[in-house]
Amino acid sequence: MELKDKVAIVTGASQGIGRAISIALAKEGASVVLASRNEAKLEETAQIIKSNGGTSLKIRTDVSREAEVKNMVQKTLETFRTIDILVNNSGIAGPTARCEDVTLEEWEETMAVNLRGPFLCCKYVIPTLKAKKSGRIIHIGSISSKRPLQNRTPYTTSKMGLIGFNRTLAVELGPFNITVNLICPGATAGERLDNVMTTMGKALGKSYEEMAAAFKALSPLDRFVNAEDIANMVVYLASDKAKNITGQDINVCAGIIMY
Ligand SMILES: NC(=O)c1ccc[n+]([C@@H]2O[C@H](COP(=O)([O-])OP(=O)(O)OC[C@H]3O[C@@H](n4cnc5c(N)ncnc54)[C@H](O)[C@@H]3O)[C@@H](O)[C@H]2O)c1
Repeated sequence: MELKDKVAIVTGASQGIGRAISIALAKEGASVVLASRNEAKLEETAQIIKSNGGTSLKIRTDVSREAEVKNMVQKTLETFRTIDILVNNSGIAGPTARCEDVTLEEWEETMAVNLRGPFLCCKYVIPTLKAKKSGRIIHIGSISSKRPLQNRTPYTTSKMGLIGFNRTLAVELGPFNITVNLICPGATAGERLDNVMTTMGKALGKSYEEMAAAFKALSPLDRFVNAEDIANMVVYLASDKAKNITGQDINVCAGIIMY
């Protein structure tokens, strides 16, 4: 097991990519704190981990709220005494609309979850990592961290912002033996991608099937990635094998982008 006795926090652990990451970390021996807003779905993730013989703790958390993030870190420390790995996975798609039609509330909400959330989680986890002079911070960005996506200015802006946050933190935390990396998933099969394709299709006057074919065609492999592909990269970055990788933005996207 790569992560025996490690303690990991995963935000957005209730479904999709965050659930797959939590299950994968637990399989490698980490105790996993499952943080998200939806308690019923967090319980589903916790049950899967339990049935695999793993350990987890659910903490209902809205990552955009400082008091809730503070509480998440405090409860983690009360239960497990330490933190080794933080995975900032929570994210929302934000609106699909031309810039002039995006409301201020939609803009602010997207920034609050996708950027303020990772900031707050880092702010409250970093002191523990610094004190033990070791740790891993892994952000989940997107290929939209690097390339534009039509009618999605709030989302792409937030995900591109994560690159600046990631690189700056890597410089700041390197002297404390803490690595900081960003994974950029491509179109990842699942509920969220289905919703995105349906919404974007409506805005562009295209059917779901046309959107799915167009998304797949962006990949030289002509396919989507799976949540497990992202989870595998998280496990690798969290492991000792990746101790000399920091400040990187790593694509897991079936080749959609190559930079
Ligand atoms: N699915 C894709 O195709 C895709 C592609 C690229 C990047 N991503 C990124 O991967 C991450 C996970 O995506 P997913 O496909 O699993 O999405 P999802 O919508 O299935 O899951 C998102 C998770 O984030 C949580 N969340 C949302 N707002 C939150 C908040 N305020 N506080 C705490 N948790 C909150 C949700 O409860 C859920 O657990 C996101 O950051 C997303 O932007 C996804």
